[in-house]
Formats: sequence, structure tokens, C-alpha cells
Amino acid sequence: MANSSFAAPIAAKSRLEGKVAIITGGASGLGESTARLFLGHGAKVIIADVQDDLGQALCKEFNSDEAIAYVHCDVTIDSDVKNVVDFAISKYGKLDIMFNNAGIFGDANPAILDADNENFKRVFEVNVYGGFLGAKHAARVMIPAKKGVILFTASLASLIGTETSHAYTTSKHAVAGLTKNLCVELGKYGIRVNSISPGLVATPLSQKLTGMDKQMLDEVACASGNLKGVVPETEDVAEAAVFLSSDAAKYVSGLNLVIDGGYSTTNGAFTKLFKSLSSQA
Ligand SMILES: NC(=O)c1ccc[n+]([C@@H]2O[C@H](COP(=O)([O-])OP(=O)(O)OC[C@H]3O[C@@H](n4cnc5c(N)ncnc54)[C@H](O)[C@@H]3O)[C@@H](O)[C@H]2O)c1
Repeated sequence: MANSSFAAPIAAKSRLEGKVAIITGGASGLGESTARLFLGHGAKVIIADVQDDLGQALCKEFNSDEAIAYVHCDVTIDSDVKNVVDFAISKYGKLDIMFNNAGIFGDANPAILDADNENFKRVFEVNVYGGFLGAKHAARVMIPAKKGVILFTASLASLIGTETSHAYTTSKHAVAGLTKNLCVELGKYGIRVNSISPGLVATPLSQKLTGMDKQMLDEVACASGNLKGVVPETEDVAEAAVFLSSDAAKYVSGLNLVIDGGYSTTNGAFTKLFKSLSSQA
């Protein structure tokens, strides 16, 4: 017999029913996938990006002024970020989810002696300062509401040193730090703050960086990954964003959720070497 004291499970496809979300960098890649999944879960979505054509095309596809809107927003410009948050309030009367996802890789060169100083500043401006502005303006409306979710896209590069540039790696470590610090400050207002850290996923950003198409990137991710037989997709990141934004995660804050198939927990090179040496012994 059913126990009436148990809450009814949240329907699998309506985890964000009635919630209002801003997704920065929502016109492409991980942000676009997340926008699609959020809409599928009943959220109202505002895409905030600088790629106007892509953002507007996404809105057109859904053909619903009520469910999805596009606002031009450069996350490094305070007035742009203020404007998109104000837009959410004037259109929907609230902001439940601020997903600070916009990011750039910058120059690919990982060598310190060749690193371009302006590139370093620009990567920080978008990845860190942009996220900071998003959090600040979201907090402005979430604190009085005494609820809300602030989410960041960090990266595997927020946890470990990689072959990515120093600018990118340190900017993503900073995003993880911002997540923790905001979690501490905003908990007293009922605001949860988390980040998501994907490993390599085929998107326009990673394709441009590596010069590889999706098929090649998928092969690289599979061959180098710890979890075998699984291709990481943008939807895997979107699913994590849905969970962290939903009431199912109502007691989760300060988490940097890593989505890398276990890559960062192991050292594949050591295992391979150890096995080959022990087979020779
Ligand atoms: N793809 C990966 O392998 C991977 C892995 C780890 C983390 N990430 C992170 O995921 C996030 C999304 O990246 P993606 O792979 O989907 O790339 P993407 O290039 O497909 O999407 C990034 C979006 O951010 C937007 N953007 C860039 N600068 C902006 C600015 N100043 N203002 C507003 N929007 C801006 C772009 O126009 C684009 O639509 C980034 O923060 C990236 O660092 C990606």
C-alpha cells in the first residue's frame, strides 16, 4: 500500500515546470543542448548570447514567444547582463535559474613563453568576469525572492592541469572557486550554487580548438577516456544541468559535478606503462 507521507515522484519529463532560466552561451554547443532539454522539462528559457543569428534561429524553431526568447548579451558587459536579468523579471516576473555557461577557449598554445598577454586577459574576462557578472545580477533578484539556482559551466580543467592553455585552465579553476564562495554567501538566502565540469565534448568550441570534426573528436574522447564504449554528448551535460537546477537537487550546493567518465580520477598512462612493463618482466 502506498505511504501517503512520501512525496509524489517528480515526473521524468517535467523537472523544471514553470521555472524561468537564463542560459548564457545558449545559442550553441552545451548551452544550446541545455536550452532544448530545459524547454522539454517545462522551463521558460532566455538565451543570452552574442551569436544573434543562432539564438534567433533557435527561438524560431520552437515558435513560442512564451517559452523561449533571445536577448543579445555580451557577458563581459555589465549593462548587457543587467538587461537580460531585467528582461526575465519584466517578462516572467522572476528568475529561477541563472546558467553562466558562456565561455571561450582563447589561443590554443599552452606554452608559457609564447602565451599572449591579451589572450590571457580576454579568456578571464569572458570565463570568470562574465560568470561573476551573471551571478551578481542573478543574486540581485534572487536574494529578495529567497530562492534560486546559480550554475556555472567550469571544465575538467577546473580540477587538473591539462594540455589546455594556462589562461583556460586557470580561468576554470577560478570558476570552481567562485562557485564555492558564492555557495557560502548565498546559502542563507536559499540560493544554491553549483558548477558542471565536462571533459572533452564535441561542440563548435572543441572542434575549432582541435581542428577535428565531431566524429574524430568522439573517437578521441572514447579512446582516451576511462569509461569505455560511451561517447560523451552535449546532452550528458544538459542532463546534469537539469538535475542541478531542479528541485530534485534541493540540498545540493557547492558541488562541481564532473562529467568525464572518470577520466580525472585515474592515470591511464601509468596503468598502460605498468601493464606493459609487468608483461615484459
Ligand atoms: N566542449 C567541451 O569540450 C567543453 C569542455 C569543458 C567545458 N566547456 C565549457 O562549456 C561552455 C560552453 O562551451 P561549448 O563547448 O558549448 O562552446 P560553444 O562555442 O559551442 O558555445 C559557447 C557559446 O558561448 C557564447 N559566448 C562566447 N563569448 C561570449 C560572450 N562574451 N558573451 C555571451 N556569449 C558568449 C558563444 O557565442 C557560444 O554560443 C564553455 O564555458 C566552455 O569552456 C566545454
